[in-house]
Amino acid sequence: MDVLALCILLILLCFQWTVAPAAAEISWTYTGLVGQSEWSQYFPDCGGTSQSPVDVVTTQTKYDPSLTPLTPLGYDQHGYQPFTLFNNGHTAVIMLPEWMGLSGLPWFFTAVQMHLHWGSGGPSHGGSEHTTNGLSADAELHVVHYNSELYPNMSTAMTQRNGLAVLGILIVTGEETNVAFNNILHYLSRVRHADQRVSIPAFDVQSLLPEDLGRYYRYNGSLTTPPCYQSVIWTLFHERVRISKAQLLKMETILYSSKAAEADRMLLQDNYRETQPLNHRVIFTSFTAESGKELSSGLSLSGRFVCFSSAGEVTAIVIGVMCGCVGLAVIVRFVVKTIRFFTLLRRETVAVNSSTSSWDVLPSTRPAPMPRMDEPHKKQEVDLSMTSEGEKKEEPSLPPQTEP
Ligand SMILES: *[C@@H]1O[C@H](CO)[C@@H](O)[C@H](O)[C@H]1NC(C)=O
Ligand SMILES: *[C@@H]1O[C@H](CO)[C@@H](O)[C@H](O)[C@H]1NC(C)=O
Repeated sequence: MDVLALCILLILLCFQWTVAPAAAEISWTYTGLVGQSEWSQYFPDCGGTSQSPVDVVTTQTKYDPSLTPLTPLGYDQHGYQPFTLFNNGHTAVIMLPEWMGLSGLPWFFTAVQMHLHWGSGGPSHGGSEHTTNGLSADAELHVVHYNSELYPNMSTAMTQRNGLAVLGILIVTGEETNVAFNNILHYLSRVRHADQRVSIPAFDVQSLLPEDLGRYYRYNGSLTTPPCYQSVIWTLFHERVRISKAQLLKMETILYSSKAAEADRMLLQDNYRETQPLNHRVIFTSFTAESGKELSSGLSLSGRFVCFSSAGEVTAIVIGVMCGCVGLAVIVRFVVKTIRFFTLLRRETVAVNSSTSSWDVLPSTRPAPMPRMDEPHKKQEVDLSMTSEGEKKEEPSLPPQTEP
C-alpha cells in the first residue's frame, strides 16, 4: 500500500512538474516545434474526440427543423466607445462590448471578441478553418460569445460544456471591396507586431455577417487554438461573404507573429488549424437540400423528381389497365353470348390469338413509356387476370386510358 501510494504521489508530482507549468507558458504555433500536431502533448484537450474545425460533408449532414435563425443582438448598435484591436501573435482580435449578444440558442450568449484566420497564397489557396466537402474558403471570421446565463465570465465558460457559442463566417475572394471589412483591415497596420493593441472606431459588426442568417450548420466542437476546450456550440453559416483580392492580400501579409523587439520578423500567415475527425458527431443543418443552391442538392432534387414521376406513371398505367380490363370484360361477355350461337371451334381459335396479340400491340400504341423494369411484369399479371376472367376477347376496341 505504501509503495503504491508513493508511486501515485511520484506520478502526480512528475505530472505537475512537467506538464502543468509548461502548458501555461508554452508558446504554441501552427507549424514548427509546438505546431498543431504537437498541441495535444501540451494541451490534452487538443487530442479530444470533439475537436474543431471540421470538414462539412454536406451529404452527411442532418436537417434539424428546430434550428431557427440566429439573432445577433446589439451588433448594429456599436455606440461611440472605441473597439480594441489586438495582435496576439496568432491572429488579430477585436474585443466586443458586452451588450452585444446572441439569441436563438437555448441560452443567451454574450459577445466577447472576434478574430480572423487566413492563409498565405492569395485567393483559392486555403486559409479557412472549416471546409465544405473538402474545399477551403480563403479566410474565416469567428465571433465568440460565452454562455452568460450559466456562467459568470468567459474564462469560466470556456472550460464548460455549452460554455461558448462561436459564429463561423467563411470568406471568399470576389471583385468588389467589402467596405465593412475595411473597418478592421484599415487598422491592421497599427498592430503589425505581436502584443500591439490599438483603439479603433466602433462599427456595425452585423455588416460583417452574411445576409442569410437562417441557413447554417450546427455542431458541438472546440476552440480551434490551444487549449482546445471542447465547449463550443458552433454555427457555420452557409452563405459566404466576399472581400476583394486586395483585401485578402492585406490580411495575409501585413501582420507579424513576432514581437516588435524581436530581431527576426515572422509573418503571421496560415493561422488555420487542419480539420479534425468528426468521430461520433453529427453536423445538423437549419435548411433542407431543396432550399440549397449547391450542385449536389440540385442533383438530389432532380433525382427525387424522377423517382416520383416514374412512380406516378406506373400507378397511372396500372389504373388505366385495370379500367381497360373491366371494359373489355363487359364487351367480351356480350360478344361471347352473341357468338355462342355460331361456332364453338372458331370461338376458341380467336380467343387464343387475340389474348396474345392484342396486349402485345397495346404498349406500342402508348406514347413511349420509359423503359422500366416492372412494366412487363405488370402486363403479365394483367394478361393472366384477363384470360382467367373473360375466356375470350375480340379486338380490344377500347385502348386503356393510360396517359397520366
Ligand atoms: C470568473 O468567474 C470565476 C468564478 O466566479 C472567478 O473565480 C474568476 O476570477 C472570474 N474570472 C475573471 C477573469 O473575471
Ligand atoms: C451537443 O451536445 C449536447 C449534449 O451536451 C446535445 O444535447 C446536443 O444535441 C448536441 N448538439 C449538436 C448540434 O450535436
